[in-house]
Amino acid sequence: MSKAEDLKNLNNKWFEKCPCKLKKIATQPVPGYGNPQSKIVFIGEAPGKQEDLLGKPFVGAAGKFLDEMLESIKLKREDIYITNIVKYRPPNNRDPLPEEKVDCIGWLYEELNFIKPKLIIFLGRHSMTYFFPNESISQVHGKLLIKKIPNLPTKYFFALYHPAAALYNGGMRETLIADFKKIPKVIEKITK
Ligand code: URA
Repeated sequence: MSKAEDLKNLNNKWFEKCPCKLKKIATQPVPGYGNPQSKIVFIGEAPGKQEDLLGKPFVGAAGKFLDEMLESIKLKREDIYITNIVKYRPPNNRDPLPEEKVDCIGWLYEELNFIKPKLIIFLGRHSMTYFFPNESISQVHGKLLIKKIPNLPTKYFFALYHPAAALYNGGMRETLIADFKKIPKVIEKITK
């Protein structure tokens, strides 16, 4: 079986197994999308309205912005893997609750250990603070973070502001675009 098929089976298993209560009100789960051989995995927050309808992460306005930034470093969605810490849409796009993250975290761990990326990139504070509870995104964005975390396949992390938060905030948008452009150098550094 190919790695893509194995990943499909992994996700199908979690469609059944995930205990998240949002399952009852969401249209469908939104599993990760992209290249299962990727050395980079991006982790967002939770699906929004468009993602809930289409079953694919980052397909709304924030996703379009993300695609532009990927293009600026010569990457396409198909080159990387992108997922969310919570796999179901919270009602009215509210922030995911701590228990929703806990309920979906087994799924994320399994995805990460299946793909085995060299670099994990957090899109926003929700995924970042789950793994780095003492850090603030305004302090660590755009910096390579190195930490051994049990049961994760890499010790290299990079945090970015969330594209949806930065979309209509001029200063944050410029910072996110500049941080994004550091990614190739970060990859070079950790794969040397
Ligand atoms: N924001 C996220 O964090 N994830 C998505 O999939 C879409 C918007």
